[in-house]
Amino acid sequence: MGTTKEEEEEDELYGTTKEFKQLILSLPKVIGWRTPNLYLFQRFWCQPKEIQAIISAQTHFQAQDSDVIIATIPKSGTTWLKALVFAIVNRRGFRVDSLEHPLLRANPHDLVPFLEYKVYANDENPNLSNIASPRCFASHVPYNSLPKTMIRDNSNCKIVYICRNPFDTFVSIWHFMKKIRPTYLGPFSLEEAFDMYCMGQVGYGPYWDHMLEYWEESLKSPQKVMFFKYEDLKGDVHLQVRRLAEFLGYPFSPQEEKECVVEEITKLCSFQNMKSLEVNKSGKSILNFDNKGLFRKGEVGDWVNLLSKQMVKRLSQIMQEKLDGSGLEFPNVP
Ligand code: A3P
Repeated sequence: MGTTKEEEEEDELYGTTKEFKQLILSLPKVIGWRTPNLYLFQRFWCQPKEIQAIISAQTHFQAQDSDVIIATIPKSGTTWLKALVFAIVNRRGFRVDSLEHPLLRANPHDLVPFLEYKVYANDENPNLSNIASPRCFASHVPYNSLPKTMIRDNSNCKIVYICRNPFDTFVSIWHFMKKIRPTYLGPFSLEEAFDMYCMGQVGYGPYWDHMLEYWEESLKSPQKVMFFKYEDLKGDVHLQVRRLAEFLGYPFSPQEEKECVVEEITKLCSFQNMKSLEVNKSGKSILNFDNKGLFRKGEVGDWVNLLSKQMVKRLSQIMQEKLDGSGLEFPNVP
């Protein structure tokens, strides 16, 4: 017998404190994409287990000036950006052309852990002081829900953000969810998923609010927050890797340029290379999902193969409304 929805709902809150249960039960909820429910917490939609970890991170995380935080919208290129950042900031310890490079043996999510899925998932206050600097962490939460010690004025840690045009992001999430949605949750149609997405009811959504928050912070504090779009990386990854390294305080020296280190990094982290590695073909890293599900097509514009004319029209209108006047634009989408 498989798990029932009721059992799973109960399981969502199993082992949590009375206060936490009370908090969750007080939040607005809608049906979840891969769990029974999504809850509206601090103005974004989220699964309960992650909410608990996010609260722990907000309460206990102590940022160091040398920390790097990779903040992203799910399915916007997180795995890629984690790999690039890891390779850049650790290149003195791990030569990029080494056959022993950690990225050849481990998935980027194991090297740059998520605060909400890993670091604080099973430990309210883990000891992070022994991690060698620069420490790299990741999170999907909106800017204002990051731990305060990361975003307060006197913190010098760096935040690198990536999002993606909302059309391709939806398509990527849709394909991913089809792989990971437990069967006991019942069917979830494309139309239903798209409707929820447009209403912002998707993990860490609404995505327009998410990207605008980071966009505005990157304009206000360009030395602290660097804003990327997946499409930028696809457009000229060498240029973006140089910008990224500069921003992080690890610029490439003339000698490194001569030795083509930038090209080596982009090759190591390329979709084709990462997808072909054994660890990414057979391993698991986030929440016990197969790593291979993290590497699908890696293209810009795949939305044309899934979305109907009406869907495109609806999402275009939303983007126009939400992003209008912000200066944030996605080329090549209607
Ligand atoms: P598609 O589903 O469109 O193929 P995330 O890492 O945030 O979960 O994003 C997943 C998306 O990034 C997937 O998009 C995946 O194929 C793509 N991706 C993963 N690794 C990549 C890489 N090294 N280069 C380019 N795209 C990559």
